[in-house]
Order: sequence, then structure tokens, then C-alpha cells
Amino acid sequence: MKVYVTRMIPQSGINKLKAKGYEVDINPSDKVLSRKELIKALKKKQYDAVLCLLTDKIDKEIFDAVPTAKIFANYAVGYDNINLNDAKEKNVMITNTPGVLTETVAEHTFALMLAISHRVAEADKFTKAGKYKGWAPMLLLGTDLSHKTLGIVGLGRIGSRVAYHGVKGFDMKVIYYDVKRNEDFEREFGAEFKENVGDLLKEADYVSIHVPLLDSTRHLINRQRLSIMKPSAYLINTSRGSVINEADLAEALKNKIIKGAALDVFEKEPELTKGLEKLDNVILTPHIASATEETRSKMSEMAADNIIPALENQTPPNLVKIS
Ligand code: DGY
Repeated sequence: MKVYVTRMIPQSGINKLKAKGYEVDINPSDKVLSRKELIKALKKKQYDAVLCLLTDKIDKEIFDAVPTAKIFANYAVGYDNINLNDAKEKNVMITNTPGVLTETVAEHTFALMLAISHRVAEADKFTKAGKYKGWAPMLLLGTDLSHKTLGIVGLGRIGSRVAYHGVKGFDMKVIYYDVKRNEDFEREFGAEFKENVGDLLKEADYVSIHVPLLDSTRHLINRQRLSIMKPSAYLINTSRGSVINEADLAEALKNKIIKGAALDVFEKEPELTKGLEKLDNVILTPHIASATEETRSKMSEMAADNIIPALENQTPPNLVKIS
């Protein structure tokens, strides 16, 4: 069996594939392959499986380049980089890596929330620039998280874990919006369901986005919705950049329509909307919410654990169901 890996990932998953006796070819350059390069690489051999990343746009043309591949195992929980209709038409299995990154992404979400509230990045810049001349009562005043209202948009695994930290760690009140109501969750965390995203945005002090990118969630947060948020509110996004209209957000931050934002994901990664980099009331991290050594290794193993059964004519555990 032959597997193509589109970019170097932690070795643990590669070892699993090799232990099965599979021939594993890995893109030798530590960069995203262009579409042309990917097609060329896939055409080199009759690969049985492809391990791809969220930076690879996978569609009919890519499937056609490697007609022998039964499975494309995405190294991510999100799979908006893959055209599922094309996968269905070509009879290719698609898998993802849910669960293993939940805690890490929730931790990063809180790292961002704390950092923007306590002005950590600004303070770091200030101190390193030698501007600290002694303790001062009004120096870099931030905002407390404790006892505030946390609005979770999308109550999946990650959204629920973020709510858990908010309630258990910071006595926050949780309100949430999701297409599905979860009364067990409400009972466990004293949370309140909001029937529409607008009601949540009006009330939350912190809005944390945890929805997948779908046609229905693209630009869910736009100028109009930002305008109904509290001027003291913060927006955190560790899901997908295009859930927020980034130009509208940059404008809202510049005009202090909301107090601040912290983003790990961007609309046109790796590009940023011009002007964002100049603002002190936004913290930006380069799509690293799942980037811990432990979690990236688990994702690597999970991708391998999806490929192996697929190549043994079994159903992979994290098969994406395509309707
Ligand atoms: C995912 O898995 O979808 C994250 O965005 C990257 O780990």
C-alpha cells in the first residue's frame, strides 16, 4: 500500500503507517504544495491513501490526479478545505481528527481571552521596549473575566469545553447559541440557550466562536452583528476565519464598536486584513490553537488510524458522513 503525506507531520502517525508495511512518501519541503505541485506529486505513484492538511484545497481535480486513492485523511477536525460533493462523486472516503484537539483548542481560546483582557501582548511590548518606569495605579488597566457572561457560538466539543473552563475556572455565566439545544448541558453548567445569535451577541461580555465553516456560518459575524455587541465586549475566534467578516471586524475595532478581539484564524490565511496588525485592541496568533506537541502527535496517529482500516476494507472511525 502506498500513502502520500502532503507535508511533514509528527512522526508517530507516520510510524504507524510504516509499521503496517506501507510505503509512505512525504512532501520533502516544509511548505504547502501549490495545486500544480500537489497534482504532480500525486501522479507519481498509484497511491492508495492521501494524508492531507487544511491548507490543501481538495476537489475533483485533485481526486482525478490520484484515482487509486480510497481515502483522503484530513489532519484537522475541520474539513472545509475538502469538496465533499466531489469526494462523494468520486467515491473517496474523507476522515478528520475530532476529539483529540478539544482540550488544547479550549486552552488556547482561554489563553487568548485572558491575554486580550489583561492586555498581555501590549504589556509585553511595553516592558520589552524599556517603557516600564515603575508601578503605577493606572498602568495598562485590563478587564476581569471572572463573573462575566461568556457567549458560546457553537456548542460542539470545543465550545462545551470552553464553557466548562468559563464556569469552573472563572465563575462565568454561560449563554450559548447552537442549531441544537442541549438541556443536559444547561442543567450541568447553569447555561442559558439563545434562540438566535443576535440575542447572544447583545448580552455576552466575551463571545467565543466554535462553529464549523459552512455556507450558513460564513460571515455569521458581520458589521450589523458587531454593532449590537456591547462596546465593552470581546470577540474570540479559534474556529475558521471566514465565520467573521474580517474587514468589518477591523473597522469595528478601529472605531471601538467593541472593546477587543483575539483571533487565531483569518479569512484569507496567511494574509491579514490590512490595518489589523496596527491595532492594540486585537491579539493575533497564527492558527496554532491545536499546536501542542501532544495534540499534534495525537492528530498524526488519528489520521493513520483512519487510513489503516480504510485500506483494510473497513470503515475508518472518523469517517465524515456526506449526505
Ligand atoms: C482543525 O483541526 O480544524 C484546526 O483548525 C487545526 O488543528
